[in-house]
Amino acid sequence: QERKWALVRGRIRDFPDFPSPGVLFRDIAPLLKDPLAFSAAIDLLEAHVRASHPKFDYIAGLDSRGFLFGPVLAQRLGVGFVLIRKKGKLPGLTESVSYTLEYGQAELEVQSDAVRPGQKVILIDDLLATGGTMRAACQLMRKLEAEVVECLVLIELKFLKGADLIKPFPLHSLVQYE
Ligand code: PRP
Ligand code: HPA
Repeated sequence: QERKWALVRGRIRDFPDFPSPGVLFRDIAPLLKDPLAFSAAIDLLEAHVRASHPKFDYIAGLDSRGFLFGPVLAQRLGVGFVLIRKKGKLPGLTESVSYTLEYGQAELEVQSDAVRPGQKVILIDDLLATGGTMRAACQLMRKLEAEVVECLVLIELKFLKGADLIKPFPLHSLVQYE
């Protein structure tokens, strides 16, 4: 486990001042390019979910980088994958929640029939920063009367206190930056 964690941590690359001055961007491209590191990340997520959540219905991924990890993890765990998308991408009846970004507003959507009331969902994204995106996803699940059993991310930027914003929903992250 320790070896796998080091492999994951070692494949996250830093870019100072991207996308704007003062921001240190954590880039997962090297992790995705390295099949050993990529599968180590999925192994760690799988082990955590198996140990913590014996029974749940879906993995739901956040547009767009949650789509890189969610479907692979869902396949490993033998459950289906649900899309949580940015506004205007999903056909049919949808629910939407708007949230605040550094600059302006954005909206997340889910199809109204994606999850039935009472079903249990694990949310996944690549990274938690302010938590605004993940919180909006939690609110979407509440609109569907689904239960968020956990929010999963590979990377947590702890100094932005996103875990506080998504309370009371539990968060699990693989790699934390202070
Ligand atoms: C990034 C990241 C998370 C979100 C985290 O996505 O992938 O989804 O920001 O930020 P927050 O915790 O402050 O809300 P982005 O909005 O850049 O979209 P993308 O996945 O389409 O690149
Ligand atoms: N890296 C990648 N995505 C992000 C970051 C970051 O540091 N902050 C917000 N979204």
